[in-house]
Amino acid sequence: MLLEVRDLHVEFHTRDGVAKAVNGVNYSVDAGETLAVLGESGSGKSVTAQAVMGILDIPPGKIPQGEILFKGEDLLKLKEDERRKVRGAKMAMIFQDALSSLNPVLSVGEQLGEMFIVHKGMSKKDARAKAVELMDRVRIPAAKERVGQYPHQFSGGMRQRIMIAMALALEPELIIADEPTTALDVTVQAQVMDLLAELQRELNMGLILITHDLGVVADVADKIAVMYAGRIVEQAPVHEIYKAPAHPYTRGLLDSIPRLDQKGQELYAIKGLPPNLLAIPPGCAFNPRCPMAQDVCRTDVPPLYEVTESPVPRSSACHFWKECLHG
Ligand SMILES: Nc1ncnc2c1ncn2[C@@H]1O[C@H](COP(=O)(O)OP(=O)(O)O)[C@@H](O)[C@H]1O
Ligand SMILES: [Mg+2]
Repeated sequence: MLLEVRDLHVEFHTRDGVAKAVNGVNYSVDAGETLAVLGESGSGKSVTAQAVMGILDIPPGKIPQGEILFKGEDLLKLKEDERRKVRGAKMAMIFQDALSSLNPVLSVGEQLGEMFIVHKGMSKKDARAKAVELMDRVRIPAAKERVGQYPHQFSGGMRQRIMIAMALALEPELIIADEPTTALDVTVQAQVMDLLAELQRELNMGLILITHDLGVVADVADKIAVMYAGRIVEQAPVHEIYKAPAHPYTRGLLDSIPRLDQKGQELYAIKGLPPNLLAIPPGCAFNPRCPMAQDVCRTDVPPLYEVTESPVPRSSACHFWKECLHG
């Protein structure tokens, strides 16, 4: 397995108390595989990814428990310099906002070339040629002519392609894309997502795609992990989840996708708000918002049940996964 996160916990020590942002996350992604991580804002998707990348703010962040195995080696046990090597060469991250991730005073060619100068000891000239090659690879038109331009001279979609090029530069084995298309308009979103999926297949990389948009993952993901209040509440191959969710929260997310055939109708929204992480409700964290909640949901934290009716590995942290699956 390329990456395996086991029982990961992350907390933030704040003036108001301890915010439990990640509460025992387990997920894995193999070479050539795409895992989509889904959930409302604040569910711990980015914090989990930052822990994997080794870019978490510690302090205030803390990892009291868990393992992050990269090809079997626990990254949490590495010294910072070893960790930095893995982060630079073996895994890369793509963020939502290219404009704040790219350096405004360096040309795109200089920034892409820098990767090859620093990590591969290339000459400036060779690095520039590599930069053009990468820009071609992410299909930026007229790469040779534009390599000397600055980030602000590119459109949002083109800038996101440059971010993808930066991430691909050292041919990482794992890419984490954190809401990579959220800031783009819809048609450009699809193009960038298609490009990312294509490159991932071509280079046989593992991809963790973080998004709050179930609509975009259907075509590109192999499996889905749904997060709520720092836990994974459902995990399944992508087609299984679309057929029938085994958790009421997933059902709520699915029902909130805008559908072309229901134009004009009011969009369904899950009622209520995600919990305060300083005071996660007892029992199932979703219970105050759940249309199926019973007494047991208010007292007992549901374990991650194996969905035994599924022919493929699948799990749900709902006491009533069966009812949900058949509902
Ligand atoms: N540096 C930080 N200090 C304190 N709390 C943080 C910090 N970073 C994230 N958090 C908290 O962790 C929770 C999960 O955040 P995040 O993983 O970013 O959610 P999302 O699922 O939207 O990516 C949020 O409630 C957020 O406020
Ligand atoms: Mg986030």
